[in-house]
Amino acid sequence: MMRSQLIVGNWKMNGSGPDLREAQAISAGLAGSTVRVGICPPTTLIERLAELARGTSLEVGGQDCRAETSGAFTGDVSAEMLADAGATLVILGHSERRAGYRETSELVSTKVLAALRAGLEPIICVGETLDQRNSGNALGIVTEQVAKSLPPELAGKAFSLAYEPVWAIGTGLTATTVQIEEMHRTIRESLIGIFGDQGLKPPILYGGSVKPNNAAEILSAAEVGGALVGGASLNAADFLGIIQAR
Ligand code: PGA
Repeated sequence: MMRSQLIVGNWKMNGSGPDLREAQAISAGLAGSTVRVGICPPTTLIERLAELARGTSLEVGGQDCRAETSGAFTGDVSAEMLADAGATLVILGHSERRAGYRETSELVSTKVLAALRAGLEPIICVGETLDQRNSGNALGIVTEQVAKSLPPELAGKAFSLAYEPVWAIGTGLTATTVQIEEMHRTIRESLIGIFGDQGLKPPILYGGSVKPNNAAEILSAAEVGGALVGGASLNAADFLGIIQAR
C-alpha cells in the first residue's frame, strides 16, 4: 500500500525565538516535496511556528498533552490548548515521558482520546529498553504497548505510530534494518488485528538517532512510513537532508 511518508521533528526542550530561523529554512526547503513534514517545538513556540508555517506545507505539533480539557493541573497543557495555538499533530507516549513521568500505556490511551477530541492527529510512540531487547522480549513488550496505548476510537481516524527503541534515542545507535523491519511488521500485524483493513493505513515511523547519513537506508526499509527525528531536526540542513534522503 502506498502512503506518503511522514517525517516529524521533535525539538524536545530545545529552542527559543531565534531558532525559528531553522524552521523557516526547513519550510522553504519543502517546496515541491511530496513528503509530509512536521515540527513539534516546545509549547512556547507552537503559536509562533504555526504563524510562520501558515500557507506552507509544514505541519506543527505538540510533544505531549494532558487528557483533561482544562482544570487545576499546574504546568500542564490540554489538547484543546495545543489546537488553539495552531498545532495539528501531537506526539504522545514518548519514552522520555514514559520513563521520566511514569506514563503508562493506559494513560497514553486517554491522551490519544484527548487528541481526537481536539482534532489533533496523534503520533503514538512505542519502544523497548535495552534490557528488554537483551532479554529477547522486545516484540512482546512493543506489542503490549501498541495494544494498550491505542483506544478503539482511533478506528478510521488519522494517526501514526512511532517505533523508537529507547536505546537508540540520542545515543547515535540505530537499530539494524533487520530489527526495524521485524518490529515494524509486528506492529503492522497488531494494527490489522485491532482495526482490520483500516490498520493498513497508519504510517509507522522509525525514531532513534536518524541522521542524514542513515536516513535513506532506514526510510527504505519495509513498513517504515517515515521518521521521528530528535537532535537532527534542530538544524535545517540536517533535517532537510533526512527529508530528501529518498
Ligand atoms: P534522536 O531522538 O533522533 O535525537 O535520537 C529521537 C526521538 O526521541 O524522537
